[in-house]
Amino acid sequence: MSHVTNARSAPRRRPLPATLVVLLGLFVIAGVWLLVAPRSKAQGTGDNAATVTKGRVLFERGCSSCHGLHGEGTNQAPTLIGVGAAAADFQLTTGRMPLPAPGAEAERRDPIYPPEQIEALSAYVGSLAPGPPIPSIGDQQWNDADLAEGGELFRANCASCHQAAGKGGALTYGKHAPALSEATPVEALEAIRTGPENMPVFSPTQINDDQAVAIAKYVQFVTNPPDPGGAGLGHLGPIPEGLVIWLIGMTGVAAAALWIGSRQA
Ligand code: HEC
Ligand code: HEC
Repeated sequence: MSHVTNARSAPRRRPLPATLVVLLGLFVIAGVWLLVAPRSKAQGTGDNAATVTKGRVLFERGCSSCHGLHGEGTNQAPTLIGVGAAAADFQLTTGRMPLPAPGAEAERRDPIYPPEQIEALSAYVGSLAPGPPIPSIGDQQWNDADLAEGGELFRANCASCHQAAGKGGALTYGKHAPALSEATPVEALEAIRTGPENMPVFSPTQINDDQAVAIAKYVQFVTNPPDPGGAGLGHLGPIPEGLVIWLIGMTGVAAAALWIGSRQA
């Protein structure tokens, strides 16, 4: 108690210079940082070095308990050395990682991390060793992708697990392949290249990049058909369409009844 009263009544000469020293120190640090930061940014591969550093901090906090301090793996989780940025981006954007608890099912959930942290974590995992990079799909490539070819490749390589319409299904060994309706085209490409859990990895020699994009386009097409009701009818939905079919059908039935009636008379 007495210490506190003393501090309050004592002249404030002593603490002031100390504060000034700290402030001066902060200014010097800020000045040095301003001089050095742009240079170190230019030295690394673009701004990649800073992103990797940010990712390493996030990784140590949120992933290392299972994957090891440097992604080398533990008895809880596999090594991430060489899985590539694509695997991390896939696992994080689909909310599978971070796994809520050891031994939990890696299921699709809302992502835990915001996009810029996913970018940093993926850059860090990608920096551990060469591996598949995060794919990007150009507008031209997407437009040129052949839906029919995508369908053929999907039936040959994917439908055995995900079913022909991408609705998912049980696998023989007590696991299941998920429905694909929520997967974005980039996530589909990442799944193809990184083979999450029981899914095989498809290398570019098995399925090249254009073919992978065609498959992704087909996945979008079968799981989110542009117009589920068939003919557009101003996108009024299934009720008016049903009504039109009912009217056409009933008119036909009525006409047939009238015709039969007129022949019997
Ligand atoms: C509670 C433990 C746990 C935590 C925490 C965790 N993981 Fe995982 N992770 C696993 C397990 C177990 C697997 C393998 C399961 C599977 O493939 O479905 C896995 C798989 C992965 C894979 C796929 C590896 C491959 O071979 O394709 C990546 C990438 C990954 N984790 C990244 C992360 C990142 C990044 C974080 C932190 C944000 C994280 N994990 C946090 C347990 C964990
Ligand atoms: C042997 C069975 C098998 C085959 C073949 C297979 N997959 Fe998968 N796929 C899976 C399993 C199992 C998962 C779930 C992995 C997990 O939860 O970690 C999955 C996950 C996915 C996902 C993520 C879905 C989501 O919403 O998160 C996509 C996309 C996908 N697969 C696409 C494909 C495509 C495209 C092909 C064909 C080129 C294919 N798969 C072939 C078993 C398979």
